[in-house]
Amino acid sequence: MNQASRQMVSQPNKPESAQGLDLSVDLAPSNPHHLRLANPVMIASGTFGYDGYGRGITEDMDLGQLGAVVPKTVTRLPLEGNPEPRWYPQSYREAWDAGDLLFLNAIGLTNPGIEAALRDVTPGWSRWNATVLFSFASDSVEQFGQMAAMAHQGTGFQGIELNLSCPNVEDGSLFGYSASLTAQAVAAVRANTDLPILAKLAPNVPNITEIAHAAVDAGADALTICNTIPAMRIDTQSRQPVLGNITGGLSGPGLRPISLALVHQVSNEVDVPIIGVGGIFSGEDAAEYILAGASAVQIGSANLVGLSAPWRILSELQDWMRRSGDFSLKELIGGTRQGTDV
Ligand SMILES: Cc1cc2nc3c(=O)[nH]c(=O)nc-3n(C[C@H](O)[C@H](O)[C@H](O)COP(=O)(O)O)c2cc1C
Repeated sequence: MNQASRQMVSQPNKPESAQGLDLSVDLAPSNPHHLRLANPVMIASGTFGYDGYGRGITEDMDLGQLGAVVPKTVTRLPLEGNPEPRWYPQSYREAWDAGDLLFLNAIGLTNPGIEAALRDVTPGWSRWNATVLFSFASDSVEQFGQMAAMAHQGTGFQGIELNLSCPNVEDGSLFGYSASLTAQAVAAVRANTDLPILAKLAPNVPNITEIAHAAVDAGADALTICNTIPAMRIDTQSRQPVLGNITGGLSGPGLRPISLALVHQVSNEVDVPIIGVGGIFSGEDAAEYILAGASAVQIGSANLVGLSAPWRILSELQDWMRRSGDFSLKELIGGTRQGTDV
């Protein structure tokens, strides 16, 4: 796709000006393509429909009304994923209703591989009339570059989200745990595409600011904070871990205050837009992230409690803004940093 047509598709198809509210945001203001969203509410990778690629999303769920969609991460080769059980609790909806809010998953990046994804899957995303980001992960710096070159030729999306919570084949450590590996991965992608790049960071690192700086200096246009945090639970009756993979990632409400603190910390330090993710289940949860410094938010586990969550959360955020007399999203971003120019 050439630059002009990329620019055309990256324009939001439905500007959000409902009743005087300006929710628009550009997640790549320094990139020639920009990444202009009509509003800040996005769907997080791996939680779009029941399979991460939209299964269960019905015609009446208009994806064009949302800020953007990030389908599930793809890898260089197809992956089958981890042994069952991959979810705990088995039904996030029943767990939510019962007040059990510790959501774990160990899906293991089940995906068809980048070649099949770009050939058979992503072209269909154009029909959604929505802004879509292509998420990929890799196990080597070189392969990050190769996958970026392949993605650059792809259609159906306007930007890339790098899932850095994946192990590097050389030493098994996660890219997102190291400033140096993060920088190398982002630089390899930047060298092969001029598409907007969001670098998605891991939460459990000693110094996220250092990693955030490394990603930005290597060419990331924005930072997504954060992925799930490693966790496990044990069934005391069977005395076995509840996940087939033994450990998995914690998501949901338990992650929210952790991710919120990281967003707040990083937004005080770096000068690129931040997308806050973790435990957002209501418009007020989204508002918390925006006040902490996020320019946009991604909805994850809430989709698995109910697939219409992002539309409800957007509407609740709009209601919250009207009630509080705030009509511009841009003026709300980083609102806890009183007296600073944000
Ligand atoms: C079932 C499931 C699958 C996920 N798969 C991916 C994935 O493929 N790539 C990725 O970057 N994040 C993945 N995530 C992480 C989410 O995108 C998000 O960062 C995390 O769940 C925190 O948000 P939440 O608390 O709103 O769920 C997944 C999360 C869940 C619950």
